[in-house]
Amino acid sequence: MHRFILLFFLLILSSAPVPAFSAGSHLRLTLHRRPESTGISRLEILRTMIHGDRRRHRMISDKIRRRRRVCSVPPSPAIEMPVWSGAYTGTGQYFVRVRLGTPAKPFLLVTDTGSDLTWVTCRYHGRADSPAPSPDVNGGGGRRSKRVFNADLSRSFRPISCSSDLCRTELPFSLSTCPTPASPCAYDYQYAEGSSAQGIFANESATVELLNGHRMKLKGLIIGCTSTSVGSSFISADGVLALGYGPNTFVSRATAKFGNLFSYCFVDHLSPRNATGHLTFGPNPDLFPHSPSARLILEPKLQPFYYISVAGISVAGELLRIPASVWNDSSGGGAILDSGTTLTILAEPAYKAVVSAISTQLINVPRVEIDPFEYCYNWTTAAAAATAVPGLTVHFTGSGNLTPPRKSYLIDVADGVKCIGFSSTPWPGVSTIGNILQQEHIWEFDLKNQRLRFHPSNCTEGSFYH
Ligand SMILES: *[C@@H]1O[C@H](CO)[C@@H](O)[C@H](O)[C@H]1NC(C)=O
Ligand SMILES: *[C@@H]1O[C@H](CO)[C@@H](O)[C@H](O)[C@H]1NC(C)=O
Ligand SMILES: *[C@@H]1O[C@H](CO)[C@@H](O)[C@H](O)[C@H]1NC(C)=O
Ligand SMILES: *[C@@H]1O[C@H](CO)[C@@H](O)[C@H](O)[C@H]1NC(C)=O
Ligand SMILES: *[C@@H]1O[C@H](CO)[C@@H](O)[C@H](O)[C@H]1NC(C)=O
Repeated sequence: MHRFILLFFLLILSSAPVPAFSAGSHLRLTLHRRPESTGISRLEILRTMIHGDRRRHRMISDKIRRRRRVCSVPPSPAIEMPVWSGAYTGTGQYFVRVRLGTPAKPFLLVTDTGSDLTWVTCRYHGRADSPAPSPDVNGGGGRRSKRVFNADLSRSFRPISCSSDLCRTELPFSLSTCPTPASPCAYDYQYAEGSSAQGIFANESATVELLNGHRMKLKGLIIGCTSTSVGSSFISADGVLALGYGPNTFVSRATAKFGNLFSYCFVDHLSPRNATGHLTFGPNPDLFPHSPSARLILEPKLQPFYYISVAGISVAGELLRIPASVWNDSSGGGAILDSGTTLTILAEPAYKAVVSAISTQLINVPRVEIDPFEYCYNWTTAAAAATAVPGLTVHFTGSGNLTPPRKSYLIDVADGVKCIGFSSTPWPGVSTIGNILQQEHIWEFDLKNQRLRFHPSNCTEGSFYH
């Protein structure tokens, strides 16, 4: 069973012409960053400054409004963490900063709704007489030196014993090795794209910030102390914040006091590092009361994934002919929403229908070859300027329609080149709504009512409130 599908982009600053396609079934793409604009006129600079000021002003106003809301309206506490795009590190992941241990130390973690072990690169000696494994983190080429959690220095770190029921029956990917009953419970956690993490499970605390600015300690979290990891998925982060569904997960602990809700808003994946969205545990004040929604299918056998009930997809206002079984998790299909996947992956029949409908509308635009995409276009041409990109809507059973911005499915891959941003998986197979298609929306996972609510937002606090 795959745990998480982590496709990632390598954003390369040079102008190397063609992206590399890695071995295996997963994509690794090379994106080209837009060149810094040169010869900017004073007017443009001025416009930018004015825009910046307005933005700053709006942020300040929103903050004040939010404070007021928090103070005057019955306080609905929630945990909030900043989230940003990892594009600056060359990955298609979204990062969050989490403080772990006592005293609390900050770590940069990949947000991943498709896995259920939150872990951090970690060193733990335990008793003085036991060997001291040092983290062996491969996947060279990381552009940032990793922070290593020194578990011996944390007063709240308690290894889970290998003889406990928790270890033997509940924790994912736990190993059966148990030299003494008090030995730590070890794991070898496997990810879909071939990465893995090895270490020991522990009971630990995190320090989180509430919407009202107060801090609180979140105790009794089960986290992984990873001593070795394999694969390149984690080169830019210190670990993973697993947002998957299930008992003993970060989500179950973090939402327990806050209505079993969590939400996130991802900024445009090409945004600079200083543009932040947020991850919220508890009610999200920026979500409209009557936001569209979809049914979340939360069954033990589907854990830790968030299956959503898709009814169909339209392109240019026309409902595509896609067999219903593609969206049915009981007949080899189904769709999950995953923050750890970059491009949206569609099962073959859906992929064919969607890509053919979009490409038909773009028939006049000259094509360019960019492996591994099937359809890429020269967007600097006159034909492109004269072409309207068709709208796309994902229909969920219930009241929800997701109409993502066009840039979320006709994506900027290189200067002047746009590609249809879907990839395919053989049928039968599960489809995955990746994080680019989710960008610039608030997504709220209501675990109690099994509903996913969503709303467009550019993730600036309060921008859609009122
Ligand atoms: C984790 O430790 C806390 C005490 O800090 C304890 O109450 C809780 O039961 C422990 N949880 C597990 C799963 O061992
Ligand atoms: C982010 O940084 C860039 C340059 O480093 C700046 O132009 C931009 O205004 C900043 N954005 C925000 C939201 O602070
Ligand atoms: C999904 O497939 C199962 C098994 O084939 C079938 O019993 C069920 O009715 C299907 N559900 C829908 C909504 O079509
Ligand atoms: C796109 O078209 C323009 C104008 O025809 C041409 O100069 C340019 O080389 C083309 N770009 C690519 C990537 O093919
Ligand atoms: C954010 O969204 C608001 C509302 O649509 C819009 O007015 C504003 O320009 C957006 N801000 C940015 C930075 O795109």
